[in-house]
Order: sequence, then structure tokens, then C-alpha cells
Amino acid sequence: MNEMITSSVLSRRVLILGGHRLSRICSLPSAVAPPTLYPAAAASAFGRCCSPLRAASSKPGTANDAVVVAGDGNYGNKQVISVTPRLYDYLLANVREPQILRQLREETASIRGSQMQVSPDQAQLLAMLVQILGAERCIEVGVYTVVGFLWWLCGSAEGSGYSSVAIALVLPDSGCLVACEKDTKSLEVAKRYYDRAGVSHKVHVKHGLAAVTLKSMIQNGEVCSYDFAFIDAEKRMYQEYFELLLLLVRVGGVIVIDNVLWHGKVADPLVDDSKTVSIRNFNQILMEDKRVSISMVPIGDGMTICRKL
Ligand SMILES: C[S@@+](CC[C@H](N)C(=O)[O-])C[C@H]1O[C@@H](n2cnc3c(N)ncnc32)[C@H](O)[C@@H]1O
Repeated sequence: MNEMITSSVLSRRVLILGGHRLSRICSLPSAVAPPTLYPAAAASAFGRCCSPLRAASSKPGTANDAVVVAGDGNYGNKQVISVTPRLYDYLLANVREPQILRQLREETASIRGSQMQVSPDQAQLLAMLVQILGAERCIEVGVYTVVGFLWWLCGSAEGSGYSSVAIALVLPDSGCLVACEKDTKSLEVAKRYYDRAGVSHKVHVKHGLAAVTLKSMIQNGEVCSYDFAFIDAEKRMYQEYFELLLLLVRVGGVIVIDNVLWHGKVADPLVDDSKTVSIRNFNQILMEDKRVSISMVPIGDGMTICRKL
């Protein structure tokens, strides 16, 4: 969806540009080239953020549709990827997705709310971080299970927390994933998927508000005993989850936060709903937080990877 919008925005940029070729656009002196080829208000009309990007192609449908450069000329003309639907399909075709996750994703795909799951490429990155860390003890805040209509009628579940299964699959047998989720029904279904994936023995499900669960873990003396944490629950609580997890994760451990680009809305000054403002503020605070090193990655809806110093 986001990629389709990106493509539309780029195509519109092409119309505005009136057919300049990439090399000509990039070589325009800054006094001549407009600083923002797609203005904020117009970009918002497409439901897309208005980060001042310059499209690096004048030919819609060509490979260069996928390339942008920063609006700030001080970053030069370094081209970076702006994923198009075709490029994203290519990327997905290069994800090594375990069979159980593929099944889970396919069973979930048509159900309302399935977009809340992390994408396969995100899950693969999470799993790789867990492996690189040699993590044994992990926490997930926001498990999520898609519960279809049939579940309410006859108890048959239709989908489950993709990211928690992805993390649990790569943990050693002695490892554990503390899975925090407030929704009981979701957890019932999730447990069945953990069984199917053969990871039930590694997943410790904690039902309730995640902040309460994390506080009780701290009170239980679990400070600095976790290697990895993933935040993907209530957006307005991100700062609180982060502070609690920073206590629970060891030095050198990693905390990953999902949705930090929030469909691009964080970069649009015209968007000021509470979730967007909350994520924007969180990103700003994190930027200045000397307790962690950070890397904001434009994967999925944006993830920030933090390493505790
Ligand atoms: C985006 S979904 C998680 C998706 C999951 N990480 C995945 O990729 O498959 C967010 C989940 O967080 C849960 N949630 C929201 N607020 C919460 C809270 N305060 N405590 C615990 N869980 C919460 C919701 O019930 C929902 O299931």
C-alpha cells in the first residue's frame, strides 16, 4: 500500500518535472532546482508524508523510480532506495521465510488486521539480530493474533503473532521469549501457533498490560538479564516501554522498536494526531539518548534498532 502511494507520488513528480532525465535533475545547480519537487500539501493529498525528497527519475516504470536523494543539498546527490511495488516484490522473493511462518502469513493475509503483523523482511531482520546477539532471553511487547470471525463461532483460529514465532524459532531450546499481550483471545490462538511451530516450550506468555508486566519483572529482580526486546504495542506508550526495557536488557543488548516512521506521517508537519506526535517525540528523545546507540531503518513501517551502552 505504502509502496503504491510512493509510486504515485513519484509519478506526479515526473509530471511536475516535465520530463527531465535523472542526470539532468541531479546536475541542476541548487539555485535552479526546486528544493522540494513535491510540496507538502500535495503529498499529503496522497496520504503520504512530505519529506522533501527529489525524485531521481523522470521515467515512470523504470528502475530509477525506486531512487531518491535527500532534499537537503548538504547531503549531495547520494541516491537511496525508495521501494516501489515491483522492487518490494523482488525483496520479498529474497526473504528466507520458514514454512511455518509462510503458512501463518498466508492463513492470516485476508483477515482484517493482518497488516498489524511485521512483514517477512522485518521478521527476518529481527531473527537475524537475535542470532547475531546469541540471544537466549528475549521480550516482545505486543504479540498480536488475528482472530477471524470463525473463532467467535466455533473456536477455530485463523492467524497469530508472526514476529513472536519468528523470534522463538531462532532461539536455542534453552532460550525464552517473554510475550506480553493484553488481549486474552489473541493469546489463546497464539499458543496454538507456538505448538504448531514447536516453540511452545520457549515462549512464556504474559497476559496483561505490558507496562505492568515489565514492572513486575523488574521487581522480580530480572534487571539486566535480557538480551533482546521488540516493541510493537500501544504507540503512545513507547517511551514507557523503552525505559522499562532499558532496565531489563543487559549492556550490549538490543531493543528494536517498530513503526517509527508511522506510514511516513512522522515527517509530515501537517499531521498532528496523538499517535503520530507521540512517535515523533519518541524518535526525537531517542535521537538524543546517550544510553543507547541507534539506527533507524526504513524497513516495513520503519524500525529503530537500539543497542544498550
Ligand atoms: C501491532 S500488534 C503486534 C504485532 C506482532 N508484533 C506481529 O508482528 O505479529 C500490537 C499488539 O499489541 C497489543 N497491545 C496494545 N496495547 C497493549 C498493552 N498496553 N499491553 C499489552 N499489549 C498491548 C495489541 O492487543 C496488539 O495485539
